[in-house]
Amino acid sequence: MSSKELRKKFLDFFKNKDHNIVKSSSLLPNDSSVLFTTAGMQQFKEYYLDKKSPYGNKVASCQKCFRTSDIEEVGDERHLTFFEMLGNFSFGDYFKKEAIYFAKEFLDTLNLKIDYVTVFEGDGEIQKDVDSYNVWKELGFSEEKNNLIFKGRDENFWGPTGEEGPCGPTTEIYINGIEIWNLVFNEYFQDKNKKLTLLKKKGVDTGMGLERLSMIVQNKPTIFETDLFLPIIKEIENQFNLKYENNNYYFRIIADHIKSAVFLISENIYPSNIERGYILRRLIRRAIRYGKLMNLPSGFLLPLAKKVIEIYKDVYCEIKLSENNILTVILNEEEKFEKTLNKGLKQFEKIAEKKEITGEEAFHLYDTYGFPIELTKELADEKNIKVDIGGFYNFFKKHQEVSRKGVEAKFGGIGKNADYNATRLHTATHLLQSALREVLGESVRQMGSDINSFRLRFDFSFPRKLTNEELQKIEGIVNQKIKEDLEVKREEMSYEKAIRSGALSFFKEKYPPKVSVYSIGDFSKEICAGPHVKKTSELKKFKIIKEESSGANIRRIRAVLE
Ligand code: ALA
Repeated sequence: MSSKELRKKFLDFFKNKDHNIVKSSSLLPNDSSVLFTTAGMQQFKEYYLDKKSPYGNKVASCQKCFRTSDIEEVGDERHLTFFEMLGNFSFGDYFKKEAIYFAKEFLDTLNLKIDYVTVFEGDGEIQKDVDSYNVWKELGFSEEKNNLIFKGRDENFWGPTGEEGPCGPTTEIYINGIEIWNLVFNEYFQDKNKKLTLLKKKGVDTGMGLERLSMIVQNKPTIFETDLFLPIIKEIENQFNLKYENNNYYFRIIADHIKSAVFLISENIYPSNIERGYILRRLIRRAIRYGKLMNLPSGFLLPLAKKVIEIYKDVYCEIKLSENNILTVILNEEEKFEKTLNKGLKQFEKIAEKKEITGEEAFHLYDTYGFPIELTKELADEKNIKVDIGGFYNFFKKHQEVSRKGVEAKFGGIGKNADYNATRLHTATHLLQSALREVLGESVRQMGSDINSFRLRFDFSFPRKLTNEELQKIEGIVNQKIKEDLEVKREEMSYEKAIRSGALSFFKEKYPPKVSVYSIGDFSKEICAGPHVKKTSELKKFKIIKEESSGANIRRIRAVLE
């Protein structure tokens, strides 16, 4: 049975059990305390609490997930960074008995035999899960039969995601010795201080990895032989005339990382040195490094990315829609890293002769050769050498402070002492961003901005040079909006409300709970501290004076007003 059929079979099964089928949410969750969506329940988190679910109280989904916690284990038979999670959820509707019966029945429809199950054994704080135990007993599982094992908090308690949220004891189902399905019974709310309180309504949250399920149903030794991976592995074989042996870790690491990279880019994440962009960069660079160990030629990631797109484009439309963008970003990052990789490796070899790498040397490898600290650490581990990671972070922080001071110096004064021209340019920057998105697509995001009394400078994510035609169009739109003499309005609201109302934001972590949102007619809406002019006619005339690169996948526009 193909993975496509399995996805459908799971969702159909729960549809027949009166569940609403909900689309996968984005890999970028609405929860600022986590970087990525790591579980199917994340988009439903608040429905376990007081909020009413707009989808009803029984839902099922197939959710895109991304975790870096297992990155070191990628390459064995079952660990991945990107995966799809099949899940059924109850928000105060059914509980343990139905959830366990559903799981057993679904696995029966696939003729799969459960090896054994695990149940929460209880501890000083939370009781033993006798209810789940009794349900399993009805189904023929018990300690005496050696197919039920009690386990503690480390293994059989799940959640919350992020800093706080619902969580509870779990029961887990194993087939062929592999954990295949995790059934979480959300009975508690854990707050920021790790204090547990009982939830008003009890909930169910289950998760089963589609890759692992496919591996078992398709009877493959590892997830990499399933139809979710084999086409990528075969592409490496065919393109580069190599043979995949079952235990070939390098093939698997590359296949995993390129898949994750494709999905992250399809959500408009671009390689950078911070947060999500850094993780994307690390994945691509790690894949390239393993490719080098296999003597793969420059540009080898491109045909593999195309394969990933082929596998998923009918399931996730964002993959299809951003195909060109994905390929360009990967190619750019590959070229960028290729340029310094060999030099960096030589430098590494030199340093490594001393048997210890200092924080400063690790920072130099990062800053000059683009080596993520994790790469330096991996290379060092292979040689049994120590790296002063703490020292690296000290250098890293110092470096960040220097750049932050630079940023403050640039932005400083705009708030209080702004002269009128800077205020006009500030409003023009908002118009420019909206015009860029109109002409180049919604994936354009602000990456930086710098305004003085003479000109504006705006950095944004985009993978290639703009054409003259595009530049003229953008300039034309801004001037049109100036002519329309639109009103610039300021409103105060919570950050969440601002985002829900569609306001654009830049580095959201920095915003206070109440933010100012500036709208210009219905053309632009941004979270911003201001100040701005009252009417767009005050800008008179807008002119772009330069467009250039400002780093990989980042473009910079300089513009002036008459
Ligand atoms: N949320 C649970 C998990 O991720 C099902 O394992």
